[in-house]
Amino acid sequence: MRVLVTGGAGYVGSHMVRALVRAKHDVLVVDDLSAGHADALPPSGIEFLQAQVSDAPRVLAAMRDHGTEAILHFASRIQVGESVVDPRKYYTGNLAAAVSLFESALDAGVKLAVLSSTAAVYGDPVRVPIDEEHPTAPINPYGETKLAIERMLGSYGRAYGLRWAALRYFNAAGADVQSGLDERHDPETHLVPIVLDAALGRRDHVTIFGDDYDTPDGTCIRDYVHVVDLCDAHLAALEHLQRGGESGAINLGTGAGHSVAEVVDVARRVTGRTIRVEKGPRRAGDPPRLVASVERAARVLGWRARRATLEQIVRDAWTVRSA
Ligand code: UFG
Repeated sequence: MRVLVTGGAGYVGSHMVRALVRAKHDVLVVDDLSAGHADALPPSGIEFLQAQVSDAPRVLAAMRDHGTEAILHFASRIQVGESVVDPRKYYTGNLAAAVSLFESALDAGVKLAVLSSTAAVYGDPVRVPIDEEHPTAPINPYGETKLAIERMLGSYGRAYGLRWAALRYFNAAGADVQSGLDERHDPETHLVPIVLDAALGRRDHVTIFGDDYDTPDGTCIRDYVHVVDLCDAHLAALEHLQRGGESGAINLGTGAGHSVAEVVDVARRVTGRTIRVEKGPRRAGDPPRLVASVERAARVLGWRARRATLEQIVRDAWTVRSA
């Protein structure tokens, strides 16, 4: 299929580009390299347009030249904290950009779309594991803008026949050992790379944001899902939509939760290194427990995370990061 990948030079997007190329899809990447890295793109075998997703004339022309049939939309700002202090970056950079992208998509006759969405659309969960019928009540502009994009896709689906899937990631982590792609955010806010940097001596210590939550060890519980499994889910979603399958939102997680303290322990075991921790205050907006119900993904996409142990996620991330 002819697939446009926005944010193809970013963390999940760059893994996806490799997976699409391996599956013999014809890939066009649009990335402005504001957060992504040019060296995360394969040196050949894809088309690349360095442009903002909101640059409608160039994006529309590129889609038409490419004959784009499906869009995988990864390009996004992703920092919850930043979205609270500077929400315009999210309303402009995520929501307005998506409005522009899908305007171009409709004009170019694109039929299928897969959105990188997030567990942040649920806000503070009222039940765990979280299924897709759980109320959506985001508590920050990051989650608000992702939910607004999901709703736009819903309306465009009903009105214009766009078929879409919003894949709500829980905590993406790990790396593809085969292609050696690493997780590189600036600043890095995600737990796994921070813990590994402490193991490598690139950071002095890891601060644990709160150890007085109502969880067995007092630290927050998250559902870490391997980035390569996320890519498999996107491929399954593309096939599902191509077969004429139903549009909608689907959680991507493993269904198992792990605490911050557990992540540190596993990383100590996997790396064999010392990892110093310090206890810090809670981080604003962190729910104590986020774990996905993964039944819909299994039923609709026939997908389950295969690299589901925390051990494997941390090991693969370490293999790439310590290389
Ligand atoms: N944490 C620490 N210390 C750190 C970094 C993180 O204790 O230095 C803790 C956090 O408090 C949290 C857990 O580790 O409990 C995971 O934090 P991350 O920042 O790695 O991930 P989040 O769970 O905050 O974020 C993820 C996605 C977001 C999404 C959010 C939904 O990365 O895109 O879940 O709440 F919005």
